[in-house]
Amino acid sequence: MPLVTQESDKKAAAIEALKLVRDGMMLGIGTGSTVKYFIDGLSDLVKAGVRLRAVATSIESETLARNAGIAIENDFSGQLDLDVDGADEIDAEGNLIKGGGGALLREKIVAYNSKTVCIIADSTKFKERGLGEFRVPVEVIPYLKDMTRKQVEKLGGICIFRKNGEFVTDNGNLVMDCDFGIIRNPADLETKIKMIPGVAEVGIFTGLTTLALISGAGVVEVKKFRNPVSP
Ligand code: 5RP
Repeated sequence: MPLVTQESDKKAAAIEALKLVRDGMMLGIGTGSTVKYFIDGLSDLVKAGVRLRAVATSIESETLARNAGIAIENDFSGQLDLDVDGADEIDAEGNLIKGGGGALLREKIVAYNSKTVCIIADSTKFKERGLGEFRVPVEVIPYLKDMTRKQVEKLGGICIFRKNGEFVTDNGNLVMDCDFGIIRNPADLETKIKMIPGVAEVGIFTGLTTLALISGAGVVEVKKFRNPVSP
């Protein structure tokens, strides 16, 4: 019997997501180690003749997707058919913490503009007790960054600039990792952080997940949260 590891669970969730991909789709491609397995699988579909176009949520994913033979668009005005992305945490309502890889801004734009948002993750990411063990990434523009940090901290968190302020996103911004403890009302905190001038995006994602494929001990569980947006 093959050994089940966190890595094999990531792969199992990604392989399950490939079943949602159809010929002619316009995809959103997320970022991270779980999504890499999804891109590998897309490469096999393309080789088998499936026609796909996509937008990518990071330069890293864009490079991987292009190498996999997927046509990457830099702009697109319609809705994406399917966004597949990972998460740092997911709760029982499908709320997410994202941005461990620093791609939260592009990831949120892509999720917001997708008919179906499918989250793929191993079971360590599922948090029955609520989000917040993983610190909330907040993308901040560099201008007067410490003023922005102070304003976010007024909401009850402790924020630290990633890599001492040397981590720079694909958008030329900084990332703060913010500890708010267990988050009782993710939608409220998301809105309050997002409203602060200087914040480009917050890594709390609420109301966007259509379904999640969570793999634990080699078994993939499908969790459904909302209906796909109709075309
Ligand atoms: C990147 C993300 C990733 O989806 C998240 O960090 C999960 O990554 P991984 O699949 O490597 O655990 O939000 O910004």
